[in-house]
Amino acid sequence: MSAIRVGVITVSDTASVDAAADRSGPTIQEIVRQRGHGCVRSTILPDDEQQIRETVKNWCNDAQNTVDWIISTGGTGFGVRDRTPEAIAPLLEREAAGIVHLLLAESLKRTPLAALSRPVAGTVGNTLVVTLPGSVKAVKENLEALFANGFIEHAIDLIK
Ligand code: MTE
Repeated sequence: MSAIRVGVITVSDTASVDAAADRSGPTIQEIVRQRGHGCVRSTILPDDEQQIRETVKNWCNDAQNTVDWIISTGGTGFGVRDRTPEAIAPLLEREAAGIVHLLLAESLKRTPLAALSRPVAGTVGNTLVVTLPGSVKAVKENLEALFANGFIEHAIDLIK
């Protein structure tokens, strides 16, 4: 298969005013490159439902700069400002409950705190969207689960 074109959205009030505070976005980009794929877009947004939804919608509809896979990090928990799942869920044309299950099952093997994340996943047109938690540790563990056994490459192949 050809390299997956990934878009990374960091959702964090803190990082949105101080990009240096974003460690998870760069971690995702690094892992994606290590796996032989490419990060074609990245942005940092505050925990703002409208901005998150608009960004995902725009990236999915942009035929000039196609993104195969949007990965968000942050805002999936129970904090009062955590609204990433609510921002993205209404956009999903086909929900991917299996991916949510995979992320939670693998994460729960590492920490019971994984139950504090409320991930959503699914397709918008030909783009797969997956929400990851905000910590570097969680990002690494979740991406390890998605890249295991060629899962994500196979999923993107099917969507394209
Ligand atoms: N998942 C994995 N694999 N590893 C982790 O360390 N941390 C949890 C959870 N998911 C964690 C994880 C914690 S402590 C929180 S609060 C939630 O993700 C939500 O994170 P978020 O609000 O930054 O998205």
